[in-house]
Amino acid sequence: MSDEPRKLRSSAWFGGAGKNAFMHRSWMKNEGLPPDVFDGRPVIGICNTWSELTPCNAHLRELAERVKRGVYEAGGLPLEFPVMSLGESNMRPTAMLFRNLAAMDVEESIRSNPVDGVILMVGCDKTTPALMMGAASCDLPAIVVSGGPMLNGNFRGKPIGSGTHVWKFYEDVKAGRMSVDDFLAAEQGQSRSAGSCMTMGTASTMASMAEALGIAMPDNAAIPAVDSRRQILAQEAGRRIVGMVRDDIRMSKILTREAFENAIRVNGAIGGSTNAVIHLIAVARRLGIDLSLDDWDRLGRSVPTIVDLMPSGRFLMEDFYYAGGLRAVMRVLAEAGLLHTDAASVAGPTIGEIVADAPNYNGEVIRGFEDALTPEGGIAVLRGNLAPGGAVIKPSAATPALMQHRGPAVVFETIEHYYARIDDPDLEIDENSVMVLKNCGPKGYPGMAEVGNMPLPAKLLKRGVTDMVRISDARMSGTAYGTVVLHTAPEAAAGGPLALVRDGDMIELDVAGRRLHLEVDEAELAARRAAWKPPEHADINGYQKLYVEHVLQADEGCDFDFLTGKREAGIPRHSH
Ligand code: FES
Ligand code: MG
Repeated sequence: MSDEPRKLRSSAWFGGAGKNAFMHRSWMKNEGLPPDVFDGRPVIGICNTWSELTPCNAHLRELAERVKRGVYEAGGLPLEFPVMSLGESNMRPTAMLFRNLAAMDVEESIRSNPVDGVILMVGCDKTTPALMMGAASCDLPAIVVSGGPMLNGNFRGKPIGSGTHVWKFYEDVKAGRMSVDDFLAAEQGQSRSAGSCMTMGTASTMASMAEALGIAMPDNAAIPAVDSRRQILAQEAGRRIVGMVRDDIRMSKILTREAFENAIRVNGAIGGSTNAVIHLIAVARRLGIDLSLDDWDRLGRSVPTIVDLMPSGRFLMEDFYYAGGLRAVMRVLAEAGLLHTDAASVAGPTIGEIVADAPNYNGEVIRGFEDALTPEGGIAVLRGNLAPGGAVIKPSAATPALMQHRGPAVVFETIEHYYARIDDPDLEIDENSVMVLKNCGPKGYPGMAEVGNMPLPAKLLKRGVTDMVRISDARMSGTAYGTVVLHTAPEAAAGGPLALVRDGDMIELDVAGRRLHLEVDEAELAARRAAWKPPEHADINGYQKLYVEHVLQADEGCDFDFLTGKREAGIPRHSH
């Protein structure tokens, strides 16, 4: 048997003695690359979302250098390339509007270039799903390397969490419990180092999802961005990807249905972000796996939330890492028979082998099922005449007493309508009201902004009201909390029943019964439907026009209709 290595994709560019090979190699040589690196060795693309406009990813250039060390050590050639970065804190109208655009950038950058495998350098919320979606459609070997969370926030001696305390302090200011000066003084304390939000927000959730899926190295979820062990993880990922290319371990071999089922259960155990529902469905469908809201409800329903992290609980990501990180959580699931332990991982061993002996150093941060934070964690999927396509709520972040509630609607037609109306002293609203926000879904906003956790009216906050039922077609930040029903599908702007709700209509929320019901009879709803007009999108053009015309609803992952599925990474025609 010949031990001649398999001919790799990149050799279609760099191999041979013809005009095209000359061209591909010669221009690369202007980077100072010696001739022997074009000998057919694995070429590893390092797909980087570094950007100074994405503060959570601003350290990814340096981390990529660690990946390169590993790639060189293992005999590969690393080539770093930038893709569109998506920063949650700066991008308007919402970073989510651009997730699919970035995914297109990633997919086309991979397919059109001489790479055999990729490292996906991600951090801030949308960068993780965007890169996974784009790479999944190419289906080359890939490893996700997350940038890691910031050090714990600290303000005047107390831990404060990214995002979570913005919402909390803002309500304290509105309620007269905190001065504006103190509020502003907390800014620096919240963001003390490089890295992503250190609450169990969407970034930490997606880094955890990548680890649970087996597409990232063990401990990817929790090592702080500035901990030297994050650099080691990056270097080891660089070593591994070279071997994965040699062994042809493609993304589709890791990201199986079993892997997604594991991730859904892990999301329940960590009290992860509702945004993961949309992102995982979108990634799975790139691979032809028909993941649905029902999978989320069926698999997540039985899983207690055992990680005591903000926004659901008390601690932060640094604490989570020191307590044992995601492996300790996955071990609890595995021992309860809730994990497909034979699922594969980019690290080599199976998921079961990786988590089998994972230690737990702090039973307060990572608990057991017997003293869970929320006995039924996960994401509850609600249905009813108000959400025929489904809606979601995160029970671990909600108020138990409100999970069964009936109250009159107070309707906001748009987010601007909400801002104009919410603190009007004459607004008829009390703690039993159900706040309803329309036209903030994928098509309506457009981009499905994180505005679903509408702050409560000041007059109720001042009276000590801390939570109310809120319903919308929007998303909410993974760092937010409350009895907030999100992702209502179909959305109002697509003519969903949410569009028909009026002030005073009674709405029933029954989380245990998975029900969301508008108490208006069918004849009246039909009359309102006949009178309904879709919102005008006259001012929408350019990319937003493409988005509104092709985005799928939340229950289908908000991908573009023409992007679902796998197109692989065949070798394109010559360019010259
Ligand atoms: Fe970037 Fe939270 S804003 S991770
Ligand atoms: Mg967020």
